[in-house]
Amino acid sequence: RSLKKYVDPLPAMPKTYGYAVEDGRPKPIALTVGMYEKKWKFHRDLPVTTVFVYGTSRRAASYPGPAIEALQGVPLNVTWENHLPERHILPWDPTIPVAVPKHGGVPAVVHLHGGVNGPRSDGSAFAWFTSGFREVGPAWSEATYHYPNVQHPGNLWYHDHALGLTRANILAGLVGTYTIRNLPVEIPFGLPSGRHFDRHLVISDRSFYKDGSLYMNYTGNVPTVHPEWQPEYFGEVIVVNGKAWPYLAVLRRKYRFRILNSSNARYFNLSLSDGLPFTVIGSDVTYHNKPVTAPSILIAPAEIYDIVIDFAESETSAIMKFVISPKKTTDNSRIPAKLVDYPVANVKDAIKKRYIVLYEYQTASGEPTHLYINGKRLEDPATETPRPGSTEVWQVINLTEDNHPLHLHLATFQAARVRGLVALEAFKACMREKNDAVKCDVKKHATGPVTAVPEHERTWKNIVKIAPGSMTTIVVQFKLIDRDEPYPFDATAEPGYVYHCHILDHEDNAMIRPLILKY
Ligand code: C2O
Ligand code: CU
Repeated sequence: RSLKKYVDPLPAMPKTYGYAVEDGRPKPIALTVGMYEKKWKFHRDLPVTTVFVYGTSRRAASYPGPAIEALQGVPLNVTWENHLPERHILPWDPTIPVAVPKHGGVPAVVHLHGGVNGPRSDGSAFAWFTSGFREVGPAWSEATYHYPNVQHPGNLWYHDHALGLTRANILAGLVGTYTIRNLPVEIPFGLPSGRHFDRHLVISDRSFYKDGSLYMNYTGNVPTVHPEWQPEYFGEVIVVNGKAWPYLAVLRRKYRFRILNSSNARYFNLSLSDGLPFTVIGSDVTYHNKPVTAPSILIAPAEIYDIVIDFAESETSAIMKFVISPKKTTDNSRIPAKLVDYPVANVKDAIKKRYIVLYEYQTASGEPTHLYINGKRLEDPATETPRPGSTEVWQVINLTEDNHPLHLHLATFQAARVRGLVALEAFKACMREKNDAVKCDVKKHATGPVTAVPEHERTWKNIVKIAPGSMTTIVVQFKLIDRDEPYPFDATAEPGYVYHCHILDHEDNAMIRPLILKY
């Protein structure tokens, strides 16, 4: 039985302000956000679903969690509390590297994705904690996280990052948006604004049992190796802001949508059913220097596109439906010709080049058992140890058959070039033996055709889609986009950062490596 589409209106998440205003001036505050088990109604015809969600209180907790509003330059402290029950609502697999508390409870830890934050506030996978901090992971150091908000206005999100449980905790509902604004900079753009016309769309796929509970396949693809791990979770129902296939009644005017794909593994190819293009104004972290139009957008897990749609000229879709009012309306918002003036990434600024190789390990019949980066585990010593303030070139080589959305904590980057790999099988065989791109003559193999990076992805980002059988050159900055000043925290402190594939099922097993900054 499939659920009827477009019967529930699109909800908006409750807004939570990460600052106060006193005498007309913003001033820092502290927030407490808890994780709660709750019942959620995903669709008119579906019984309620038990979820794990964030909220400033149990009653306010929502799917996704509160939309946190921060201001550039106004720091925010958040105390994340775990109020989750003794047992998980979803299966997890004890044979992958996973947090297992001795005394029960659901390990959780929060990462502000895209945040320029100190390592102790970054939500290390090893800094998990259970309800009431009864038990904590080996890297746990503090209950209150400090977000300096020094970075540019843009779209971030927070989500769970517990070791080996990220895919289950996020699937259960532990996600929320976090927006950094700079009003003096942004108001003059004249973009659609206010709660009606500037909206978040958090899109993900989910499957449900008839009784409404979340369904996650818990028979491993290779049960003899991992009894419960599956290489990718795909759901049949598309959920936007916590409702299955919702609709939104819109006026004939421009709307701004900050679109986040919070799925475990599903990519969406977004387009409008009437063929009208999107105007893309921002990425995962920043504004584009100027608006770019795109007829469609391929959005990978954890990617964000900040777009404007003008319904004065448009119609609908299959993820959600826009019901356009027949009446004309006045629209004083605009799409400016120019937005910001951020520098463009330059390969020449790099002081270091690294090869990052994505592998999949398979059984003889080709079933994946686990995925690694550079053939190494998360627990193996860090090999990526960039200097704070530096720029590096990472050559990311994908030897698997899937596209992987690569994400680095702390850093921002731009994709510079995508090159096909030739004689792929010989390269793979050599890499399996020597595990060294240079010794395996990468220069000879990276001579395939060059694919252009789409214009709407040519900006500073924190997620880059790595196509199968390709080498993608990314210019990575371990500093703020347009400022040479040091980070306002010690980025070299314990427990450091990580970089990983953002297909959550890959990240958990275990396409993730430490990223330790060092002078
Ligand atoms: Cu979103 Cu590590 O992440
Ligand atoms: Cu992956």
